[in-house]
Amino acid sequence: MNIVGISGSPSLRSRSHWLLQLTQTRLEGLARVNDLIAVRTLDSAALLSADARAASVRQAVERVAAADLVVVATPIYKAAYSGLLKLFLDLLPQDTLRGKTVLPLATGGSLAHLLALDYALKPVLSALGARDILDGVFATDQQLASHDESGGYVPDAALLERLDRALQPLLDAKGAALGRALQPY
Ligand SMILES: Cc1cc2nc3c(=O)[nH]c(=O)nc-3n(C[C@H](O)[C@H](O)[C@H](O)COP(=O)(O)O)c2cc1C
Repeated sequence: MNIVGISGSPSLRSRSHWLLQLTQTRLEGLARVNDLIAVRTLDSAALLSADARAASVRQAVERVAAADLVVVATPIYKAAYSGLLKLFLDLLPQDTLRGKTVLPLATGGSLAHLLALDYALKPVLSALGARDILDGVFATDQQLASHDESGGYVPDAALLERLDRALQPLLDAKGAALGRALQPY
């Protein structure tokens, strides 16, 4: 499976980026390609002027177009996904996500905007053609405690359980495909 993560946080040290990395690590066994696009590293002038011809943006768009599974991670900003993520999603051609499975992830300061994935991000993913959108995973900052020595975070048990539940359909599909491959003629 060709897996591409899109990280929509403008922050260098980012909980949503870390959650995306954790997710992609857990999917390692399914991945032929396991690629992560941090939108903050793309050509900012190109993003701001919606210039899809800039090399870094063009290559990122091509990587998304080639994916089977797209994992989209964002911080919640003002009750929605980040503006940085929107700048990138706006550059994806119509129907880029058709035929792909999409997994949304978000981190937020509190549970107040838990539904932002449903009312804000999912409609945009649908507009890009996504029909197979897995249950999103939302984590509060409290559920991702800072781990200063590593510069990473420590997820709490409830978050890990929710993440594994969200990934289960992908792992089940892989198991079923393996089972079919092992069926005697
Ligand atoms: C400009 C700004 C706006 C924010 N707005 C919200 C919000 O509306 N709701 C919320 O739950 N958290 C909000 N937060 C908190 C972030 O969503 C939260 O800290 C998140 O984990 C940051 O993700 P990141 O570390 O990947 O950037 C906001 C943070 C910033 C900097």
